[in-house]
Amino acid sequence: MCGIIGYLGSKNAVPVLLDGLKKLEYRGYDSAGVAVIRDNKIQVRRVKGKIRDLVESLKASPLEGSCGLGHTRWATHGRPSEENAHPHRDCSGTLVVVHNGIIENYLPLKEELIREGHVFRTETDTEVIAHLIEKHFKGSLEEAVMMAIRELEGAYAVAAMSVRDPDKIVAAKTGPPAVVGLGEGEFFISSDINPILGYTPRVVFLEDNEMAVLERQGVRFLDFQGTPLSKTVDHLSWNPIMIEKKGFKHFMLKEIFEQPQVIRDTLEGRISQGSGKVYLDETGLSPRATKSIERVLIIACGTSYHAGLAGKYFIESLAQVPVSVEYASEYRYHDLLLDPRTLVVVISQSGETADTLAALRAIKKAGGLTLAISNVVNSTIPREAERALYTHAGPEIGVAATKTFSAQLAALALLALYLAQAKGRSDEGTFSPLIQDLLRVPHKLERILTEARRLEDLAQRFLAFSHFLYLGRWVSFPVALEGALKLKEISYLHAEGYAGGEMKHGPIALIDEDMPTLAVVPKDRAYEKMLSNISEIKARSGHILALAFEDDTEIVNYADEVIRVPACSPLWSPFLTVVPLQLFAYHIAAKRGADVDQPRNLAKSVTVE
Ligand code: M6R
Repeated sequence: MCGIIGYLGSKNAVPVLLDGLKKLEYRGYDSAGVAVIRDNKIQVRRVKGKIRDLVESLKASPLEGSCGLGHTRWATHGRPSEENAHPHRDCSGTLVVVHNGIIENYLPLKEELIREGHVFRTETDTEVIAHLIEKHFKGSLEEAVMMAIRELEGAYAVAAMSVRDPDKIVAAKTGPPAVVGLGEGEFFISSDINPILGYTPRVVFLEDNEMAVLERQGVRFLDFQGTPLSKTVDHLSWNPIMIEKKGFKHFMLKEIFEQPQVIRDTLEGRISQGSGKVYLDETGLSPRATKSIERVLIIACGTSYHAGLAGKYFIESLAQVPVSVEYASEYRYHDLLLDPRTLVVVISQSGETADTLAALRAIKKAGGLTLAISNVVNSTIPREAERALYTHAGPEIGVAATKTFSAQLAALALLALYLAQAKGRSDEGTFSPLIQDLLRVPHKLERILTEARRLEDLAQRFLAFSHFLYLGRWVSFPVALEGALKLKEISYLHAEGYAGGEMKHGPIALIDEDMPTLAVVPKDRAYEKMLSNISEIKARSGHILALAFEDDTEIVNYADEVIRVPACSPLWSPFLTVVPLQLFAYHIAAKRGADVDQPRNLAKSVTVE
């Protein structure tokens, strides 16, 4: 849940590290630091705060060196402070480490190292790694790192450098991601590909229990026993322009506006406009194997979980296959009652979420057939699942997921259609209009986005409220959950998402003139019941902001305000109804002066359990 970066080349490492840290800042942003080797000395600069504070500190007093490490932190052990910021040193100050993850046995290790005379300066778990490497150092940094990590329990992506074995960065990983960039005479180690994109398209993803030794003449890969490994070099397709704001005030707003294209890109090449046939050959799920699937289990966290809930309705409605959806963080503790005809779909945009990964590993151990839906090619979850279906959303920088949610909906719609097709449940009469309507979703979304200004005005009017209820039924239930999550995570306001029918079982007690309700009411099978829920709220002085189809003439008789979206097949309505809720949350947060792209206490990729 932190970001690590390392550079070894001919340039001054500091600007490269800072540029990389800005791109990794979504992973953690409570403190940051860099270290470089120069004139046989390690120079370290650390600050409490954001990367911009580190940049200011380095402007005031610059550092220089062509071999360096950087880190942006999301605190786990030890409060955010300059001392607890990485890189961390050994006693002699001749070696430094940066680390992402948690060392579970750091306390006994620390006690032992203190008994042996090591002096600790921080409250972090990471510092034990520096002292362990110091303890084992006999002249070769990679050997010392290897010895040190054999004593560690937990999860780590770690990188170290030392003046006693200079011109070298040694990285190792078990758990959190680490990727090596292979440039022309320059090499990188990073928590993800974003910092590397601008320098080289050639990367190598480290697997668990693997090490990389970056040297001036190239990079060597080893396992934890020191056996050389031959690794595949991947060529990146994302480009650096994709991670710029392009004139938008925040990445989140830019990413909301990218949704029509992201849906087009995710559907493209997988669905035939003419025949309506869906092709998911890339997943390796053959029509024959797909036909034998009798149950689907979806596992995910946060926004991906909400996409999974919408996917349940897509699959059940189209393929008539029962689906259950579980939080990955909870499923790990279940008794895993799987059979070979259950397809387990694991959804993670980052492909690195620790809870989802742990659930995936448990499911694989129990023999389940797994399919990952992810946005990051070659990230751990799609690599470890038997099959992978990638969303084509491009890099998402805002911590709040927006465009990746839409891309996940598109992938799940494809999966539902593919299952229906394989099971012979896709008769042309019903399916053809549905498919044509799915293909029209991006255009309809563009129409919603041309009227985005209206949501800004609405947000202004709702600024005074501190509590919000979001209601929806059937496919709109996950939309209500997602709308509430967006508002709470970026504006820090209290918002609850509820299934419309559940309101009378408790939350109705909260309703008064100070608690507005956002009701998601497309014309679908639950429409009439939602109107009843709205009436119940109005009868208790609640204020209703309804999200409805533009051809709905009845809703004005019930709601105080109505946000309109183009009408579509009810099953696909989440694609359209979620967008005004994202914009509503965005504008409320922006007007409250919140840090929209990097909300407090959060990190984009939660790589700790
Ligand atoms: O990368 P993942 O899809 O596995 O991430 C899951 C959640 O951590 C993520 O969706 C989180 O809830 C976002 N902050 C939501 O905006």
